[in-house]
Amino acid sequence: MSAITDSEGSEKGVKKFVDDWLIYDTILGEGAFGEVRLIANRKTREKIACKIMDFAKYKGSEVAITREIRIHSVLNHENIIKYYGLRKEPTRVYLFLEYAPGGELFQQIEPGVGMPSRDAQMYMKQLVRGVSYLHSKGITHRDIKPENILLHNGILKISDFGMATLFRHKGKERMLDKKCGTKPYLAPEILVGSYHAVPADVWSCGCVLVAMLAGELLWNCPHEDYPEFAQYKEGNYLTSSPWNRLGNTPLSLVTRILDLDPMKRISLEKILKHPWMTYNFSYDEADSSADSNSNGLHAIRRASMMEPPADRESPYVTLSQPNLPTRPVCLEHIIDKQQKTNKRRDNKWFSQPTHNEDLIISSELQFTQTPITKDNFSDLIQRMTRFFVTTQTEEKTAEALCSVLDALHYTWTVDGSGAISISTVDNMKNQLVFKVTIFKMEGKILLDFRLSKGCGLEFKKKFIKLKECLGNIVCKV
Ligand code: ADE
Repeated sequence: MSAITDSEGSEKGVKKFVDDWLIYDTILGEGAFGEVRLIANRKTREKIACKIMDFAKYKGSEVAITREIRIHSVLNHENIIKYYGLRKEPTRVYLFLEYAPGGELFQQIEPGVGMPSRDAQMYMKQLVRGVSYLHSKGITHRDIKPENILLHNGILKISDFGMATLFRHKGKERMLDKKCGTKPYLAPEILVGSYHAVPADVWSCGCVLVAMLAGELLWNCPHEDYPEFAQYKEGNYLTSSPWNRLGNTPLSLVTRILDLDPMKRISLEKILKHPWMTYNFSYDEADSSADSNSNGLHAIRRASMMEPPADRESPYVTLSQPNLPTRPVCLEHIIDKQQKTNKRRDNKWFSQPTHNEDLIISSELQFTQTPITKDNFSDLIQRMTRFFVTTQTEEKTAEALCSVLDALHYTWTVDGSGAISISTVDNMKNQLVFKVTIFKMEGKILLDFRLSKGCGLEFKKKFIKLKECLGNIVCKV
């Protein structure tokens, strides 16, 4: 029997999961074999992400799911989403993961602009630390991109180990040859033949850095058929966007990371020592009001960190261990037994190594006692792709939205939960699917946009366009 049941008298959008756990209709993310939902403990208010993978629906998924679990269950690092355990049903598996209320990193990136250098530096440090940890365990992620990077109170968390694999075992490295990942973030050598895991992940981190600093991707695919990549290969790229929007110091870091020769590519250790990574941006902020006092050398140094030199095209805009994760005690009842005890090694669903489970109570749990309801649920998810509207009813809002969608020639459908699912292509002709949920919150109507499939930055561009088109009903803040 499925863990999810329609509980009597339950609120709209919430179902009973198991014991005191409620599962919410709102989808946090979608992956190759299923979706990620929020589950919350009715009594303790503990919140967990639950990845539901349906191997009856996806042929051949069982092997991939088993590998993902085997890899994720041995990881324990601040910058990696924690794996708490699993529950298995005849056709489904539920993975219990740390919930990151800050959403995906791409939500923090303004298309065509990026984010403040200080934030980009902070996230890059955490990304590099998380990836270094993975590599120290002999594991490569193989799909590093802003959509797979989550945030929890400003802490970056690498998620989704669906493409991860072991590249080093007992000190012996193996070359990889599977062409996997997401094209704009893919290292070029992956398309050519066998490749080393470490520099390939390093390359993807560089693409994430460019996305954070410029709000734009460098190319659709790292292949000569794509003019932007061909120009890069020829060394003829500095005057085009987004290159011309990077200051000299970040540019030098990015080009060291995106070295076409994987053997010459900068290491993660050296990235952390690069002048752009060690530069104190917060000092700039404190200092900016005293610009007239700042000495000339400092001003020049600061400019090189942030602004492109005059001889490159502007315009430029600066917005300026070994211990395993502790899991919530109240989750114990719903995790499969053999995992908890770690005795049944014969089970193909890999066991979670034992760990100290004493007194595991999250800080949220200690400080809040308000029951979770439909009305306060949305506070748990901090998304930037949402806005309030002035329309009085959900129906009128849906009408306004659908007429804009029709005017823009988007294909849309209404799914079982009442969400509007929009299917289109982005500028690079890649499929883009996103969902809009309309619901009442604090007496007002809220439109919540969520990416289902495609590039996060392209999704944000479409979101901005739709928000503009709905300008006459968008609540001014
Ligand atoms: N989306 C996908 N996985 C998630 C998680 N663990 N927390 C929050 N949002 C997510």
